[in-house]
Amino acid sequence: MKINHTDLEALLKQDLETCNKEHDLQQIKSRYLGKKGHLTNLFSSLKDIPSENRKSYGSELNNLKQILTKLINSKFEELDNNKEKSKRLDLDVPARHHQFGSHHPISLVIRRIEKIFSGFGFETHDGPEIETEHYNFKSLNIPDNHPARDMHDTFYFDSDLLLRTHTSSVQIHAMEHMSAPLRVLAPGRVYRCDSDPTHSPMFHQIEGLCVDTDISFSNLKWLLNDFIYKFFQSKKIKTRFRPSYFPFTEPSAEMDIMFNGKWLEVLGCGMVHPNVLKNVNIDPKKYSGLAFGLGIERFAMLAYQIKDLRVFFENDINFLEQFESLRES
Ligand code: DAH
Repeated sequence: MKINHTDLEALLKQDLETCNKEHDLQQIKSRYLGKKGHLTNLFSSLKDIPSENRKSYGSELNNLKQILTKLINSKFEELDNNKEKSKRLDLDVPARHHQFGSHHPISLVIRRIEKIFSGFGFETHDGPEIETEHYNFKSLNIPDNHPARDMHDTFYFDSDLLLRTHTSSVQIHAMEHMSAPLRVLAPGRVYRCDSDPTHSPMFHQIEGLCVDTDISFSNLKWLLNDFIYKFFQSKKIKTRFRPSYFPFTEPSAEMDIMFNGKWLEVLGCGMVHPNVLKNVNIDPKKYSGLAFGLGIERFAMLAYQIKDLRVFFENDINFLEQFESLRES
C-alpha cells in the first residue's frame, strides 16, 4: 500500500495507542523510521517530485520526521514510567483479609480432657495409628480368634499390620517405654469398619492408664467421677458403673451418666489385667493399674449438643466457626 505523507502522523498515533510493550514499540519505530520504513520510502520518492516543488516537500518531510520521532520517543518514556510505577509499592491497596481459623470441637474436647487429667498428674503420650496385631490385640490379652475381635473389625494392610481399633494399644507402648509407676493419657484417631449417623470409620478416643503400687477400683471410681464433674462443670451429674467385660481389664466396667433423664454410656474402664502387666514385664504382684477409654465424639456431642456425628468430619466452615468463642473453655 502506498502511504501518503499526510496520513503518516495519524497512522502512527493509531499504532501507538494500542502499543504497551517496549518490544512492539521498537517494531513500530523501525516500520516508520527504519531503513525500509515509511518515512524513508517517502524521502526516496523526492527524486520523482517536480524540481519546483521538491524543496518545500523536502522540508515538509523533515518536519514530519521530527514529529514522528517525538511521538515515538515520548511513547518510550511513557512505557518506562509505567514500568517504574508498577515496581513501586502502592500503599493505598486495601489489605488482604485473613480469615482466622477456629479450633475444631474435637480438638477443644481433647484439650479440655487433657487439662483435667494433667491436674491428676497424667501426661499425654502418642502412639502409632498403624499398628501390629501384637500391640492392638495380643499384648492386650486379645488372642487370635477371641470373640472380642469381632467388635474391632478393622482395616488390614496385611495379616499383621492394621489401623488401630482403639487407643488401648498406646498402653503397651507407654508401659514398654516408661515402665511403672506411670500415669498417661493417649488421645488419637482410631478406625473401625462402621459407618452410620452414630458411627464413623474413623473416630477419636482418649485412653487413660495409671499403674502404681496400691491402685484400687475405688481410685478408678473416684478419678472418673471427678473427671465427669469437672468436664460438665457440675457436681450434680449422676453417674453409675455397670459390670462389663474387656479382655485387658479385670474387673471391667462401663460408666454411665444421667443425661436428660436417661442413662448414657460414656466410657469403658477397669483394673489392668495381670496378663497385660506381665506382657510388658511389670510385676502384677507389686503393681496394679487402672485404665479407661472414652470416645471423644461422644463427649463433644454431649458438650455441644450435637446430634449427628458426621458433622465433625464434613469440614463445613459455618459449623466449625461456631466454636471459636469456646476456644479457651
Ligand atoms: N478399648 C476399648 C474400646 O475401644 C475401651 C476401653 C475399655 C479402654 C476399657 C480401656 C478400658 O482402657 O479399661 O472399646
